[in-house]
Amino acid sequence: MNPRARVDSTPIPFVDVAAQRRRLGSAVDEAIARVTAHCRFIDGPEVAEFETRLAEFCGARYAVGCASGTDALLLVLMARGIGPGDAVICPAFTFCATAEVVALLGATPVFADVDAATFNLDAASLKRAVATARRHGLKPKAVIPVDLFGLPADHDAIGAVAKAENLFVLDDAAQAFGANYQGRKLGTLAPATATSFFPAKPLGCYGDGGAVLTDDAGLVDVLKSLRVHGQNKDDKYDSVRIGVTGRLDTIQAAVLLEKLKIFDEEIVARDAAAKRYAAALKDVVTVPSVPAGLTSVWAQYTIRLPEGRRDRFAEALKTKGIPTAIYYPKPLHRLEAYRHFPVVDNGIPVTDRLAGEVISLPMHAYLDAPTQDRIIEAVRDVLES
Ligand SMILES: Cc1ncc(COP(=O)(O)O)c(C=O)c1O
Repeated sequence: MNPRARVDSTPIPFVDVAAQRRRLGSAVDEAIARVTAHCRFIDGPEVAEFETRLAEFCGARYAVGCASGTDALLLVLMARGIGPGDAVICPAFTFCATAEVVALLGATPVFADVDAATFNLDAASLKRAVATARRHGLKPKAVIPVDLFGLPADHDAIGAVAKAENLFVLDDAAQAFGANYQGRKLGTLAPATATSFFPAKPLGCYGDGGAVLTDDAGLVDVLKSLRVHGQNKDDKYDSVRIGVTGRLDTIQAAVLLEKLKIFDEEIVARDAAAKRYAAALKDVVTVPSVPAGLTSVWAQYTIRLPEGRRDRFAEALKTKGIPTAIYYPKPLHRLEAYRHFPVVDNGIPVTDRLAGEVISLPMHAYLDAPTQDRIIEAVRDVLES
């Protein structure tokens, strides 16, 4: 018999949301049923309860729930009064939402490069991007470091540049909520942190959702007003500023309350899967590295292949039922909508190189050993053939 006939090529999910649902059993259904019974779909009691639990989880004083990770970023920039003539420094290697919110407000995203080992904003490039922004006649007001793929950025180095340059730091932790940086959780490392509960995120809901974490009570008041049309907190028909419809739905808060209960265990499971990948693949590909004192929540498990090998690699894995994904094939400064924005004056060579080399493997908290072994074996097989 041909031994190849026995190879399992049943499709493996990239992120197994259904496995998590099985683990949660009836808890989520019951939580949703409580909301459909009390009918407070907007601003129900679950929202405030979730905000309290989320803030406790990461050690921030406050959490403000909102409609998405994008809104979380947007609301903070609105609260800071960012607008035309202002520059906000962003890494070029990230999801478009990081820079989109800046452009939406009429401000200018200025793109900086990232570090090759961590994929996160390079503090030296940030410093240079501030000078680039000034040369363009812009006022550098803020920086949005991104904790890409689940790994915290170099918050000490970025914070030092931000302090020297008088920049507000808005941490984009959409992919990394739950990760640790030198004993502190994301949510406490910057004056404001935004996160996303998009279903595929490490802490995801069953639709769109997001939150801002902060210790600043004044900022919380403004965010809570902005997320409901800029309303006066004592009179909902008195608008005191221009805002948006950016609330977190009660049903999503109810789902998140249940998911938060198992989040710590899921982070441990994700980390174990990442360690297994690293041990089994480090001799054949560049596996991700985690700097000392940091943890990742592994929103993605992203390896690097020499340029030019990626398409064939992805195709070969696909025939074995193994999905891969490329985050991000085009960095922001090469996207149609963003390419007219300034780029740090010495260029973005690391980002450009990474965009041609990265590829992500299936990663989630329910990746059992036999499934992961199948992936590992297939990766080795394809690379060694
Ligand atoms: C780095 C980053 N920032 C912001 C967002 C936006 O989050 P949302 O999709 O919840 O608006 C995402 C979501 O993919 C993201 O990955």
